[in-house]
Amino acid sequence: MGVVGAGVLVVGATGAIGGLAAGQLTERGIATALAGRDRHRLEKRAAALGGRPRRVFDAYDLNGCARLAPWAAGVLGGLDAVVVAVGVAGFGSVAEVSDASAEHLLTVNALAPMAVVRGSLGVLSPGGVVAVVTGEIVDRPARGMGDYAAAKSALAAWLGVAGREVRREALQVMDVRMPHLDTGFAARAVVGTVPALGPGADPAEAVREHLVVPVLDALDRR
Ligand SMILES: NC(=O)c1ccc[n+]([C@@H]2O[C@H](COP(=O)([O-])OP(=O)(O)OC[C@H]3O[C@@H](n4cnc5c(N)ncnc54)[C@H](OP(=O)(O)O)[C@@H]3O)[C@@H](O)[C@H]2O)c1
Repeated sequence: MGVVGAGVLVVGATGAIGGLAAGQLTERGIATALAGRDRHRLEKRAAALGGRPRRVFDAYDLNGCARLAPWAAGVLGGLDAVVVAVGVAGFGSVAEVSDASAEHLLTVNALAPMAVVRGSLGVLSPGGVVAVVTGEIVDRPARGMGDYAAAKSALAAWLGVAGREVRREALQVMDVRMPHLDTGFAARAVVGTVPALGPGADPAEAVREHLVVPVLDALDRR
């Protein structure tokens, strides 16, 4: 089965990585549906891609997260893949970060993506793909990023188990450990100040290599 016309939901399409993924997938003939928090940016992005269907959601509404994939399957007439690029950064030592900030980081970086994926499992077509952006932080948790690293590591562990559990249904779960990119993500941290991170990789190239090409290849192999 080819990839042209396949239905793909991009969650976090208002962000840098999600926006690039939505653009690159749409360019390749994929029927995308976009979800994001910022209504204005979502409308602009959907319009720029030729008027793609869109839905606003917030990570704190986990039921709303779980309803995204069923919505996309409905508007696209089927769903072949889900891309999740939702997240927020947070900095500070484990002693400094407040419980409220820790809850925010865990909710946006772990619970919300998990709810999106859980909601997709009943509606993805056979051979469907789930690709969720975690990050290299999972392999190299750094000082001053304990709560962010814990959230991403929780998500990565969950995705690993999910992948094994759904293999029998011919679904594929990808944990996309994206390298540090120049998207301004760290500067939008919900808590703390950004440490010196060094230059990041080119976002468009990294999204193509680590996210879009693997998803298209997996869909093509079905
Ligand atoms: N940039 C990097 O260096 C890097 C490296 C590895 C992994 N990652 C991961 O890649 C993902 C995207 O990063 P990015 O660079 O594209 O950053 P970004 O441009 O800041 O995008 C973040 C995305 O998360 C969404 N989001 C944040 N809080 C939300 C909430 N409460 N409810 C719903 N959506 C919310 C944003 O929605 P709105 O814009 O609509 O508010 C946006 O779509 C994150 O999970 C990040 O951890 C990034």
